[in-house]
Amino acid sequence: MSSSDAQNADGRRTAINFRFRGRDVDLAGFAPRTTLLDWLRIEQGATGTKEGCGEGDCGACTVVLVRRREGGVSFDPVNACILLLGQIDGAELVTIEDLAQAGELHPVQQAMVEHHASQCGFCTPGIVMSLFALHEAGDRAPAAVAVRDQLAGNLCRCTGYRPIVEAAIAAGAAPRGEARWTGAAMTPGDLFVGDDTQFFAAPASLNSLASLYMEHPEATVLAGGTDIGLWITKGLQDMRKIIWLGRVAGLGDIAESETALRLGAGATLAAAMPLLHAIHSDLGEVMRRFGSVQIRASGTVGGSLANGSPIGDLAPCLIALGATLELRRGDEIRQLPLEDFFLDYRKQDRRPGEFVSAVSVPKLGAGDEFRAFKVTKRIDEDISAVLAAFCFKVESRRIGAARIAYGGMAATPARARMSEGFAVGARLDDEKTWKGALTSLALDFTPLSDQRASAAYRSLVARNLLLKALMEMRGMPLDETRIAPPRETVS
Ligand SMILES: Cc1cc2nc3c(=O)[nH]c(=O)nc-3n(C[C@H](O)[C@H](O)[C@H](O)COP(=O)(O)OP(=O)(O)OC[C@H]3O[C@@H](n4cnc5c(N)ncnc54)[C@H](O)[C@@H]3O)c2cc1C
Ligand code: FES
Ligand code: FES
Repeated sequence: MSSSDAQNADGRRTAINFRFRGRDVDLAGFAPRTTLLDWLRIEQGATGTKEGCGEGDCGACTVVLVRRREGGVSFDPVNACILLLGQIDGAELVTIEDLAQAGELHPVQQAMVEHHASQCGFCTPGIVMSLFALHEAGDRAPAAVAVRDQLAGNLCRCTGYRPIVEAAIAAGAAPRGEARWTGAAMTPGDLFVGDDTQFFAAPASLNSLASLYMEHPEATVLAGGTDIGLWITKGLQDMRKIIWLGRVAGLGDIAESETALRLGAGATLAAAMPLLHAIHSDLGEVMRRFGSVQIRASGTVGGSLANGSPIGDLAPCLIALGATLELRRGDEIRQLPLEDFFLDYRKQDRRPGEFVSAVSVPKLGAGDEFRAFKVTKRIDEDISAVLAAFCFKVESRRIGAARIAYGGMAATPARARMSEGFAVGARLDDEKTWKGALTSLALDFTPLSDQRASAAYRSLVARNLLLKALMEMRGMPLDETRIAPPRETVS
């Protein structure tokens, strides 16, 4: 069937289009909740792509989506276990079976052999696919640190990473397969696979999205799927109506002025990362440690705010910067301070049929001091126990205004209003004036104990991160004796 045949009476396309094994494929008649991994392994018998965790952590299921972009193609490694099949619309799907050609291994595979970079082999297809993406898109001499970043989402339990990193560096000099990977043609117009009782829909414009969601407010809005994928694989949810945002023109746009950044809700975390880094290197580091390359290639700015996670990394950082959220419902657009969006645990100020369309993030101005710290059990691909973000306006070494936000300390990402109040007026050169801000954090938050951290640990870390920020801003060694002891509270 050709794509032009696969249309319904409304002119909406009724099959997804993608490129696979050198052919253009049209596919209809799949259950909306089908994951890419199940389609590959169960329906295509393509068992080279492995299933380890089924939740985006281990990388054994990594495949690469090649997409046409302005000026070339992009190579995005993604976790097939939590990506829904419909999300490959408009891409070329490359799996481990595609790399070797006419009996010759891909340079990354050859280097893995030569460097003895595989033992049991279970992780190897996923690792090769991540390194394939780096090789085809990257520079000719990847640094070890870039390779390690690329592999943050690929776990190997038996080989050890040194030979794998060496293989990746060695493969860097080999030629790219430029002519082989072309991406797929993006078919214009709305996509609607299914019927009114169950569907996978992908509107092509903001207006189509707004009216489809008003028509089906009970549908699940799917962005990158890095949360939603787990509702299916771990929560076993039978999701029947899905509206995917990945094809909405303009929703992923990023605009920059001298004073602010406007991130479209559909912008991937990978696309937003360099611009956030440009605001402050701490924000860049938080983003570098956000999940993995795979998670950032799929996950979106809008998804990471709309999910209302109390332990999400982006929300506290953007709250500290004073971000404004934009929401749309039908033709109505409204804006609100980001912190006001979070009402209670997983309860956001979002009405039926309303979606997040963008977030505006002020850049730092004269005298603004920003710091952000992520505390986790391991450095890479781990969810925060505590995320602290601070933005102070400093004039003549005195704090004139303060925005302090935390993740992991309450049921929502939240500002520390008491502490902010005490911080205003504190002098960087007089530690005694920091005490109110530090101790009043105990009044701002009553954190929970869970598998990530105890309440006592969270309280202590939250206080110490504020102390760290103040010390960094002051730029001189701390006289510990002049600071309140850790668990002291304001009387
Ligand atoms: C292995 C792994 C590692 C992770 N690491 C981190 C980490 O380090 N830090 C962190 O903060 N998070 C992390 N996460 C969580 C997750 O990746 C993020 O929250 C992610 O950004 C969600 O974005 P998404 O586009 O994938 O959202 P989706 O999964 O598509 O959607 C999430 C929720 O938001 C809703 N939604 C999405 N977009 C919109 C919109 N525009 N309007 C209205 N509703 C919308 C959906 O309906 C759903 O309820 C991790 C997840 C995994 C699986
Ligand atoms: S199977 Fe572990 S990340 Fe997909
Ligand atoms: S080779 Fe065995 S897990 Fe990596």
